[in-house]
Amino acid sequence: CTSCAVRIKSGQIRQPEALGISADLREQGYALLCVGYPSSDLEVETQDEDEGILAPVWKILCAGAC
Ligand code: FES
Repeated sequence: CTSCAVRIKSGQIRQPEALGISADLREQGYALLCVGYPSSDLEVETQDEDEGILAPVWKILCAGAC
């Protein structure tokens, strides 16, 4: 559905099962959080559903679990 799509601004994420996003978009830094596994702390840009654009930036801390 891609409602969890984000653009990675910093950090690393593994997403071996992200079938809903093309390899090209992955190379551009896009990821699906529902099937992503952080390999480090992340800073991601989220999608504003009303605007249809990437908007707020969130920091996701893996707190030593990655
Ligand atoms: S692709 Fe639908 S919630 Fe992630």
